[in-house]
Amino acid sequence: MEGRVVLSELENAVHDPSVDEAGDARERDIERILITEQQIQDKLRELGEQITRDYEGRELLLLGVLKGAFVMMADLSRHIRIPLEVDFMAVASYGAATKTSGVVRILKDLDHDLEGRHVLLIEDIVDSGLTLNYLLKNLRGRRPASLEVCALLKKTGIQRVHLDVKYVGFEIPPDFVVGYGLDFAERFRNLPYVGLLRPEAYTDG
Ligand code: IMP
Ligand code: MG
Repeated sequence: MEGRVVLSELENAVHDPSVDEAGDARERDIERILITEQQIQDKLRELGEQITRDYEGRELLLLGVLKGAFVMMADLSRHIRIPLEVDFMAVASYGAATKTSGVVRILKDLDHDLEGRHVLLIEDIVDSGLTLNYLLKNLRGRRPASLEVCALLKKTGIQRVHLDVKYVGFEIPPDFVVGYGLDFAERFRNLPYVGLLRPEAYTDG
């Protein structure tokens, strides 16, 4: 059988039995699911329909804020039934810590010129709002025809600046969440739902 890969061997190679016993290895540090995969997908369909109606007849530019928005961008954009273009911007608001520093750095700027464009900024989460506030100021200076925000999550009552977020998926309590693009120390972005971390996960290094 040398040189021939048999399906059962392949399965053995990717299936770690210790992982199977404990469930999905991505989920070991998750205490509880806050928003299920189904709830997210239903909401994105709803938002997509609303955005389709609101931007009918206009040329839309979806602007994703990396890295957190990459999962939502992919799903939401497929629910928007008008021609559109996508672009991404990468910013860093804080590193592995769970509190915002208020310092925003642009790591990757846009490829598009925004002048005269209808821009919809896609954000994973609005927490303190400082990142979004900074971004909106920066983008407004580029003279788009319109500029609105669509955020999957908004934490209730803790924004430190006033922000108009036109499209909000879910309002959540001010706890730290992961999944569906959101990370803790760069992990958990690939969970299909939004969940809460076990307290040990913050301290385990
Ligand atoms: P803000 O500037 O405090 O609004 O935070 C904005 C950024 O911080 C978001 O785009 C996320 O990348 C990150 N962030 C804020 N809250 C959370 C959270 O609960 N989980 C994961 N990342 C978060
Ligand atoms: Mg982050």
